[in-house]
Amino acid sequence: MAENKGTRGAKGDDKPIGPTGRPYRGFDVPAKLDSHGPARIIALCNQKGGVGKTTTTINLAASLAEYGRRVLAVDFDPQGALSAGLGIQTHDGATIYDLLLDPKRDTREVIQHTQVDGLDVLPANIDLSAAEVHLVNEVARETILARVLRQVAGDYDVILIDCQPSLGLLTVNALTASHGVLIPLECEFFALRGVALLIETIDKVRDRLNPAIKLDGVLATMYDPRTLHSREVLERVVEAFGDDVLETVIGRTVKFPDASVAGMPITEFAPEHAAAQAYLRLARELVSRGAVA
Ligand SMILES: Nc1ncnc2c1ncn2[C@@H]1O[C@H](COP(=O)(O)OP(=O)(O)OP(=O)(O)O)[C@@H](O)[C@H]1O
Ligand SMILES: [Mg+2]
Repeated sequence: MAENKGTRGAKGDDKPIGPTGRPYRGFDVPAKLDSHGPARIIALCNQKGGVGKTTTTINLAASLAEYGRRVLAVDFDPQGALSAGLGIQTHDGATIYDLLLDPKRDTREVIQHTQVDGLDVLPANIDLSAAEVHLVNEVARETILARVLRQVAGDYDVILIDCQPSLGLLTVNALTASHGVLIPLECEFFALRGVALLIETIDKVRDRLNPAIKLDGVLATMYDPRTLHSREVLERVVEAFGDDVLETVIGRTVKFPDASVAGMPITEFAPEHAAAQAYLRLARELVSRGAVA
C-alpha cells in the first residue's frame, strides 16, 4: 500500500492533490534541535470511542522521537491502552493515578522509558477510573494534571496526552494542562456527531481555565480512499473545519492492531509500511505548523 497521496491535479497540472483537496506536500524533515524543552503540551481528544486517539498518540510520539524530539506520552485513560501499546507493564509500580492523588510525589519517579529512543511514558491502569471521584472535592481540581506535568516540562520538547473517550474531569484536566488540542476523527458514519460538544468544551476551558489553548488540528483517521463513503465524510470534515484539517490523513489498515499486539509503534513494527510513513509525515506537518518544536 502506498502512502495516500490522493489523485492527480487537473489536466496539465501534474501536482498531486491530497485527500483533503489541497496540493500534496511531503513536508521537510525538521532540523535537529540543539537543546531541549520546555515542552509544548498537546491533548489528543475526542469523546467518541475508537477514533484513533491512542494509536495516534503512540505513533506520533514515536515519529517525533525519530526526528530527535524528546517526547513524553501521557496515558490518561484507565484502559491503559497507550501503556500496553508501548509495551509498558502497569500491574505493579506507580502510575499517573498516584501523581494525581499525591501532589508531593515526584513525577520523574513514575515515568518509564520505552524501547524507542527519546520516548518516555507516564503509565496508567484501571486505578485511574477512581480518580474522578477523588478529585471532585479537591481545590483547583481542574489543574491537577497541569501541576504534575509542570515538574517535567523542562525535560521534553513535546508532551502528548492520550485522553479517555469522555468529556469528564480527567479530560478537562488534560485540556487545562495543554497548549494545543488535536482531534482525531474517524472517516466513518457519525464522525462529526458530538464534535460540536467537544468544541464547546474546549471553548469553556479557554474561557475559564486556560485562555491560551488552541486547536492544533483535526486529523482524519481510518480513511479508505476506495470507498465513496470515506471520501464523502472527509469532504464534510473539510467543509466544517477548513484549514484546521491536517493535510496528513491516516489510512485504514490492520497493521495498527497488529502493532498494538506486539506492543510497538508502527514506525518500529513496520517502518516501511505506508501507515508508518503517514505518521512520520504527520510529525513533519505539525513541526511545519509550529505545533511542535
Ligand atoms: N488507521 C487505522 N486503521 C485501522 N485500524 C485502526 C487505525 N487506527 C486505529 N485502529 C484500530 O482501531 C481501534 C481503536 O483505535 P484507538 O484505540 O487508537 O482509538 P481510541 O480513540 O484511542 O479509542 P478509545 O476511545 O477506546 O480510547 C484499535 O483496535 C486500533 O488498533
Ligand atoms: Mg484510547
